[in-house]
Amino acid sequence: MPNTVLVGAQWGDEGKGKIIDVLTRESDVVVRYQGGNNAGHTVKVGDQQYILHLIPSGILHEGKACIIGNGLVVDLVGLMSEIDELADLGISCDDRLYISDRAHIVMPYHKEIDAAHEATLKSGSKIGTTKRGIGPTYADKVNRRALRMCDLCSADFESKVRQSVESANAVIEALGGTTLDVAETVTNCMALAERVRPYVTDTITLLNDMVKDGKQVLFEGAQGTMLDIDFGSYPFVTSSSATAGGACTGSGLSPNKIDRVIGVLKAYTTRVGEGPMPTELTDEDGEALRKKGAEFGATTGRPRRCGWFDAVVARYAAVINGFDYWCITKLDVLDGHEKIKVCVAYECDGKRYDSVPADIQILEKCVPVYEEVDGWCSPTTDITEYDDLPENAKKYVEYICKITDVKLGVLSVGPKRSATLRVAI
Ligand code: GDP
Ligand code: IMO
Ligand code: MG
Repeated sequence: MPNTVLVGAQWGDEGKGKIIDVLTRESDVVVRYQGGNNAGHTVKVGDQQYILHLIPSGILHEGKACIIGNGLVVDLVGLMSEIDELADLGISCDDRLYISDRAHIVMPYHKEIDAAHEATLKSGSKIGTTKRGIGPTYADKVNRRALRMCDLCSADFESKVRQSVESANAVIEALGGTTLDVAETVTNCMALAERVRPYVTDTITLLNDMVKDGKQVLFEGAQGTMLDIDFGSYPFVTSSSATAGGACTGSGLSPNKIDRVIGVLKAYTTRVGEGPMPTELTDEDGEALRKKGAEFGATTGRPRRCGWFDAVVARYAAVINGFDYWCITKLDVLDGHEKIKVCVAYECDGKRYDSVPADIQILEKCVPVYEEVDGWCSPTTDITEYDDLPENAKKYVEYICKITDVKLGVLSVGPKRSATLRVAI
């Protein structure tokens, strides 16, 4: 398989984990390049469901290498509990999980600041973060004062931790949050550092050497294009580069080593957290999608907001990421709808928008322009050949591909590995 970047095309939770799991079979190494344990990637293997937050979904395939790249922010507590949970299920991360020495560390105070800062915001301004400390850690990274994984191996790690907790406590206090016990936090961090250290390495050299040796790389994007710090519905976004460009800056592999980019696209739209979502349905249609699609956050358990497919978002994502193929997921969730709506443009104050406007106040006021297409009645989830799909299901998928100008690569009709129709890749 060529070196491939897989990116979410909407507001996250498109089914990236499932597709990564399917494509890992044909790859040698799976690389996460941004975000942290705000991600929740679900993989269903038989009756066992795994939810990966920090560790690449490729870990479920024996013998495959997994890299946590320099672009991530790593919560040591979250990391170790994920490693331990996998070990309990018989999956070892030893000698195949590699964490970049340049990745930044999510400290306990980052999580406290995240929650305390959200609490200070008025309704309408809250981001609805996962409270995993992601934003505050990236803020410290950009402010050039965050701790990195390489610091775990330095002699003065303990004093760096003590100093950083003391200064963070002043911030927490100002925000009205709960300050941390300095001695206890330092002791906990030192104990965790001991456990995490064996996984820390120079992943830039490792990855580039692997590519030189002809190994095939699969990049696992987290979040999605509309949550990207530059291209998303700012400020209602996450704090990392969730689009294809992030694969290079977040791993140290150069753009000319990347062969293709694949977009994961849910057959309808969901969003968890605050911020505009033009096709959101607050009626029984939205509730039906949430119920049938089991749309509850894999990290926080929050109900996801649901709505019709938004082609404005999909087209915008295709332009930014340069998708070679779509992996369209959750088509089965639309089974049984007599009519299906597709948003082809937005309207705001009499003006038509064919791309996503930058101004959040405009996006908030955008009303979808819908086209209606015929649905299908028979279930699709047990279908294994594209040609066997109901005619209208094929028409719906082909319509999406046509209006977004991206070819279909994979179609997913259920959470299991077997419910995957490999059309072109
Ligand atoms: P990710 O964050 O992009 O990896 O997606 P999540 O794991 O957060 O959410 C996707 C959810 O949809 C998970 O519960 C998956 O098991 C499930 N899923 C993935 N593909 C399909 C599909 O084609 N059909 C159905 N019904 N569920 C799917
Ligand atoms: P995966 O990888 C869906 C959302 C949060 C919130 C915003 C900012 O599973 O697709 P943060 O904690 O990152 O500062 O929160 O981003 N968010 C996600 N939504 N899927 C995700 O990841 C998300 N990661 C963050 O809900 O609105
Ligand atoms: Mg998810």
